[in-house]
Amino acid sequence: MGVLENKIALVTGGAQGIGRAISLALAAEGANIAFSDIVLGVAAEETKELVRAKGVRVLALQSDVSQFGSAQKVVDDVVAEFQRIDILVNNAGITRDNLLMRMTEEEWDMVLDTNLKGTFNFCRAAGKQMISQRGGNIINIASVVGVIGNAGQVNYAASKAGVIGITKTLAKELASRNIQVNAIAPGFVETGMTKKLNDKQREALLAAVPMKRTAEPEEIAAVAVFLASPSARYITGQVLCVDGGLVI
Ligand code: NAI
Repeated sequence: MGVLENKIALVTGGAQGIGRAISLALAAEGANIAFSDIVLGVAAEETKELVRAKGVRVLALQSDVSQFGSAQKVVDDVVAEFQRIDILVNNAGITRDNLLMRMTEEEWDMVLDTNLKGTFNFCRAAGKQMISQRGGNIINIASVVGVIGNAGQVNYAASKAGVIGITKTLAKELASRNIQVNAIAPGFVETGMTKKLNDKQREALLAAVPMKRTAEPEEIAAVAVFLASPSARYITGQVLCVDGGLVI
């Protein structure tokens, strides 16, 4: 029997990458999975099949996390299907990198709207449900860039530092409601997001990682399972850097 048997988890941006790995890892521990994504295409179908193969129920929903009303609709649909939400993973995120002097207003707004406002939108909608059911567990996917900054990513770093602010604030606000709120700050993970990097950027990034390698999405997912599990029941408001030592 898994440590999350019969729990209901909602993962945003779950069609691929880290969100898919988290959905699969939670499912492997017995959680039923609802995931949302801005696009429900081939990747989302694959994720659905892979989750179903773990022997749990799965629901895929189309939603743009940056839309306040869309988050409420997703939460309503998940509750209609599963009656509750035990675990929320705010994973959907994007990059639009540029140096400050070249960054457009649109690049700034898109990243902040998706990464920061998206996390607020889902905490707000799912948090209400968790308060009414007297418990829950929220895991926000931040980034080491939100902790230490990164040249060329002023929008992304600000959004992820903001996610850490949301995490610490809601941990304080919601602890009395039996809701834990933690963040994972991954380093450099092999996904579609990092495939865009050229060899030079990749080399420079790896030079700063004491473990001298990138992470697989499963290595982030394992930490999400831990934070969602009873083993982590006294942990709230924390930011766990899963980064091969990058921030040391
Ligand atoms: P990815 O690009 O492989 O997957 C992101 C998923 O989010 C995609 O399925 C995409 O369709 C979805 N998405 C994008 N915008 C959305 C929106 N507005 N509404 C709903 N879904 C949306 O990226 P990856 O690497 O799996 O990233 C997942 C999270 O991990 C992000 O928050 C990212 O910032 C974070 N992260 C990733 C790192 C990496 O090295 N890959 C490092 C640190 C953090």
